[in-house]
Formats: sequence, C-alpha cells, structure tokens
Amino acid sequence: MPPAPLPLSDRSGRTTDSPITFFIQKAFETPGLISLAAGLVDEGSLPAGEVGAAVAAIMADPQAARAALQYGSTQGLPSLRTRVLNHVCAADGVSPGDIGLSADDVVLTTGSQQLLYLLGEALFNPGDIVLAEAPSYFVYHGVLQSHGVCVVPVPMDAGGMDLDALDAKLADLQSRGELPRVKLIYTVDYFQNPTGLTLAADRRPRLVEIARKYSTAHRILVLEDAAYRELRYTGPDLPSVKKFDVANEFVAYTSTFSKPLSPGLKLGYALLPSDLVAPVLHLKGNHDFGSANLAQHVVDRLLATGAFDRHVGHLRDVYRAKRDAMLAALDEEFGDVPGASWTVPGGGLYVWLTLPPDVDAGPNGPLVPAALEAGVLYVPGEFGHVADETGGIARNECRLSFGVAEPDRLREGIRRLRKAYRKLERTAGRAPAAV
Ligand SMILES: Cc1ncc(COP(=O)(O)O)c(C=O)c1O
Repeated sequence: MPPAPLPLSDRSGRTTDSPITFFIQKAFETPGLISLAAGLVDEGSLPAGEVGAAVAAIMADPQAARAALQYGSTQGLPSLRTRVLNHVCAADGVSPGDIGLSADDVVLTTGSQQLLYLLGEALFNPGDIVLAEAPSYFVYHGVLQSHGVCVVPVPMDAGGMDLDALDAKLADLQSRGELPRVKLIYTVDYFQNPTGLTLAADRRPRLVEIARKYSTAHRILVLEDAAYRELRYTGPDLPSVKKFDVANEFVAYTSTFSKPLSPGLKLGYALLPSDLVAPVLHLKGNHDFGSANLAQHVVDRLLATGAFDRHVGHLRDVYRAKRDAMLAALDEEFGDVPGASWTVPGGGLYVWLTLPPDVDAGPNGPLVPAALEAGVLYVPGEFGHVADETGGIARNECRLSFGVAEPDRLREGIRRLRKAYRKLERTAGRAPAAV
C-alpha cells in the first residue's frame, strides 16, 4: 500500500522548482556544450588569494578568530553594516544622515536572495500584488508565486522600467479598488537580470514619487535590487533610487557580495526603512538568527583593507572583455538577421537577444533543441515574463550570459546559436542568410 500523502502546506503547493534547473542540469551533463545560460560568475577571477589572506589574518589573531567562529547576531556584524552603508552612500555621494539612514537600518543576509524572500514574508498575504519589470528576475517570480502574490508586469524600454506605464497601471488598479492589494514595485535597476538594461537617471527620483503618489492607505514600497551595480564597464555610476528616498520611507535597497566578490560567501545586505527592520529581523530570527559569521568577518576585512575595491576594478576589466566579445560575435552572426536586436549592457552579466516575433525560442519551441544540437545553451526569455492581460507571453527572446565562458568560447557559442537559428530559418522557409 502506498504511504498516505504528506500534509504539505499551501505554500509548499505553490512553490515549484526553478524553471532553469533543467538548463543547468543539461549544461553539466553535456560535454562540450557552451552554456550561455548559467548565472554563475567568472571562475578565473574568483578571489582565492584575497579570501585566503583574510581568513589567515583572522585565524592568526586569537580574539578575531574567536569572534568570527562564534555565532554572530541576527542583524549582522556592526562594523560590516557600517561599511556597507558607507559603501552605498559613497557611491551616491551622500552621507547616511542625508537620507535618514544609520547602521541600525542595515541588515546582512544570506545572499540578497534571502532578503527578497524575507521581505515577502514581512509584507505579503496571498492575493497581494507586486508590479515588476517585464521581463524580470525569474527567481524572484518564484518567490512571489510561493507567497501567493500576483505579478503585474510593467513594460521596459531602453531606459528600463517605463514609468508612464507604471503610473498608468497603478491608476488602473486604483480605479478598480485594487490599490489595497498593491505592496511593492520591484526593480533590478542596474544592468538588469535578464535584459542588461538600466533604469535611466531621470526615472530614479520619479520612481520614488510614483510610490509616494499611490501610498494613500498604506505605503507602497520600491524594492531596489542593485545586485549588479558594481559590475559596471562603461558610463558613470547612476545614483540609486534609494538616494531620492530622503526620509528613508519608500525604498528597500538590496545588494550582494555574490557578484562583485564571491557567490560562495553568499552574503547580501539591505538598507531598509527603519520600521521595516524589526519585522524582517523577527522573521530572519526564525530562519537562521544570523547569516554565516565567518563570511561577514572575511568581507569586513576585505572592505577595510581595500582588497574589495581592487578586486572590483579587476573584475570590470575581465567582464568588459567578455561582454565585448559577445557583442562583437552578435554583430557578426546576427547582424544580417532581419528583426533581430540585442541590448548593449553597460555592465552586469547578460545580453538580451530579441528574435523576430514569430520565432519560438521558448522552452518548448524549436530553437532550444536546435541550440542543444549545435552545442550551445541559452535561457529562454519566456521565463522572465508572466502572461499579460490578454494571456500573451513573449517567446522570441533569449538571455545570453557572458559571465562564465571565456571570450573565444563566447564567440563560438554565438556562432553555434546562429547555426541553430539557421536551421529554424530553413524549416520556416525564411530566406537563409549567406553562410
Ligand atoms: C537580480 C538578482 N537579485 C538577487 C540575486 C541573488 O543573489 P545572491 O543571493 O547570491 O545575493 C541574483 C542572483 O543571481 C540576481 O540576479
């Protein structure tokens, strides 16, 4: 007799495996495959020497060693909270007091992913609404689904989230009496995962104003996910949205050391409106009552010695070369494809390729198997979307990551993708481009 079913919770029922698990598995299983799908970081530049030196220095000092190997606090190491706050404020050209912040408003988390989840636990009830860029970070869609939250997609253009469209969507929700369900506006505003697009400078203060405008019965927060801010290869650093939240009311800013340092340390941080700190900490207390203390001490030391800044400088050169290799290959291989276009990101890890509207690059379409046959893998852009009001979903887009493969493999990967696309062109009877 089969065992009686497990009494799983509603939350568990709403929580599914990440759609890209299949793609990551494929990349591991298939020798020779070039993965432009993985969201991992560059291997060669991982800071083994710097982390090794920091760990050695901590362990050589008995007091520092005991402090690092003991439990820490739920909120995180005070000195690191101060450094993180100063790091963000220095980038924004303000002092913490200018924008109503102190180290008490900083929470260190187990990656920024934990903060994304915790904030949801603190704010959402099933049926609530989050407005998010379309497309958006698909792992966060999974978090929202787990919390039972509905995503309202907001279109993007070259300047990131279209704020006229955001305003219009909020006005529409208001007119339908749905504003009480709206809790959050989510933006990955620097070199977005998955598109590589950045929120334009003039939109940043306006985003705070829009949140304020619709915060009638309760505050609607902006969740600014700045995971890729440090990975900037061209152009100036733009001020954060947080900078324009001068009384620290509307914007929760989160970022991570995973991308600019090491995902193995799995350390993230958040600058929160003061009254959000306690609810988040109460929940974090239930999760883990503090992220890995040793990782916090290591990062604290790397920031204090300047090793972190030096490392970021080096990473920028490494990734700029990779990005340029991918963009040059796209020009070469897809430049002659009518209707194909791609983003030119100023930073981050991703290029977003848009193919002609009738091309199905989705997980069940013909491009994925053709690409696998040609020896390359991408993430179907479809994963970043939720269906719009008409039930429609874009299937003609691909997320291409230049983070992991070396420049020559990136070029070869794009050549293979073109080969796969050529196969589709032949099948569809499109005029094949010259080989
Ligand atoms: C946009 C974005 N936010 C958050 C994260 C979470 O990263 P971590 O938990 O390693 O800080 C990622 C990871 O890829 C990401 O792309």
